Amino acid sequence: MIKGTPRTLTVNILTLFPDLLEASFSHSILKRAREKGLFHPKLINIRDFSRDKHRTVDDKPYGGGSGMVIKVDPVARALYSLRRGKGTGLVLLLAPTGRRFDQKMAQQLSRLERFTLICGHYEGVDQRVSEKLCDHEVSIGDYVLTGGEPAAIVISDAIVRLLPQALGSENSAVQDSFSDGLLDYPHYTRPFRYRGWKVPDVLISGAHKKVSVWRREQQLKRTMQHRPDLLERAHLDPEERKKIAESARPERKPGHNRRRKE
Ligand code: ADE
Repeated sequence: MIKGTPRTLTVNILTLFPDLLEASFSHSILKRAREKGLFHPKLINIRDFSRDKHRTVDDKPYGGGSGMVIKVDPVARALYSLRRGKGTGLVLLLAPTGRRFDQKMAQQLSRLERFTLICGHYEGVDQRVSEKLCDHEVSIGDYVLTGGEPAAIVISDAIVRLLPQALGSENSAVQDSFSDGLLDYPHYTRPFRYRGWKVPDVLISGAHKKVSVWRREQQLKRTMQHRPDLLERAHLDPEERKKIAESARPERKPGHNRRRKE
């Protein structure tokens, strides 16, 4: 459990599919965080801010091309409606062209009182939304989604688990992957043996020190194997840095030439 005084984080989300988001915020930890008053997602349907009788929010792209583009006016009006109320806080447009979302950004956003996410859809959003109405663009990864809604869910989920008191004492965000710049260690639960697959003995040894040494070693091993790019900026002590440098060095037996002569 992350200690600290409970407070409310308001996330305004401008979307064309509020039901999709509502469903995701109505389960598990996000649902509980809402019930405890820690997380307040405010879903705003962009279509409600269209001015025409067909509730149009998109139009053909200038210059030609396929697909439709979300118009600037309904988005601007939705944002002004928030500004007339409690405000928008930081305004982020969800788009594959944005800055990559990571644990550090999750931590920064979780400290805010409120912020606003804009979910694009169709071929994209009129560029003036990004340039004139947003603080910056955020992407959740190098792939293109049909819309920003899955990104809004990912970002909200990653942030809510960092809010003080959002996780019960049975859960912990302190030991999460990335929290100290390393991947998390492996977890096991009963039974001890399943089809002959055993849990590592150290975990039932009852020796807390040994368990924490093993877990730290596993974190280092996993990170070296799967995400060596994280190691440079991870929080490691000098001894750990030395071990990593040694294991990264190619093994060379004296007199052994690794390159076979043609
Ligand atoms: N919308 C479409 N693709 C996206 C991505 N990768 N991240 C955030 N929003 C998006």
